[in-house]
Amino acid sequence: MMMFRIPAALLLLTFGASAAPALRFEPQQIAVQPQGKREVWAPPILCPTSGTVWQTGSTVTVTWNTSTRPPQVSNPTGTLLLGYLLPGGQGGENLDVDNPLANNFPLDAGEIDFEVPDVDPMTTYIVALIGDSGNISPEFTIEN
Ligand SMILES: *[C@@H]1O[C@H](CO)[C@@H](O)[C@H](O)[C@H]1NC(C)=O
Repeated sequence: MMMFRIPAALLLLTFGASAAPALRFEPQQIAVQPQGKREVWAPPILCPTSGTVWQTGSTVTVTWNTSTRPPQVSNPTGTLLLGYLLPGGQGGENLDVDNPLANNFPLDAGEIDFEVPDVDPMTTYIVALIGDSGNISPEFTIEN
């Protein structure tokens, strides 16, 4: 009996752990403030700025300000999502939660490199940097 109980418990833990990160990709989770003494950290994005132009297929760097880090951070790993805004701000941030630009990187690094995906050229792209809370960049341009 014990032989079966232990693996079953491990399987449940493994399944639970692998299912948990998917929650962070839900846009509605961005503003949620977890309870408890650990602090929410939403590092301000330094690059891209409103003047940024990226080429599809090129390697670019997103940077954020790590000086704002509280001593205890509830989620020290980040996910970077691409989104876009529509004229007048209607339709939300349109974050591509299924295709993160980067994933599982340490927020303490203050930067992450990745390849710009082959998306339609537009001047209203944004990136969202998400740990346990999220920050959105200014609108910038992607060209091809
Ligand atoms: C980073 O954050 C610190 C603390 O809020 C601030 O003093 C500093 O000016 C920020 N640096 C940049 C480059 O925005």
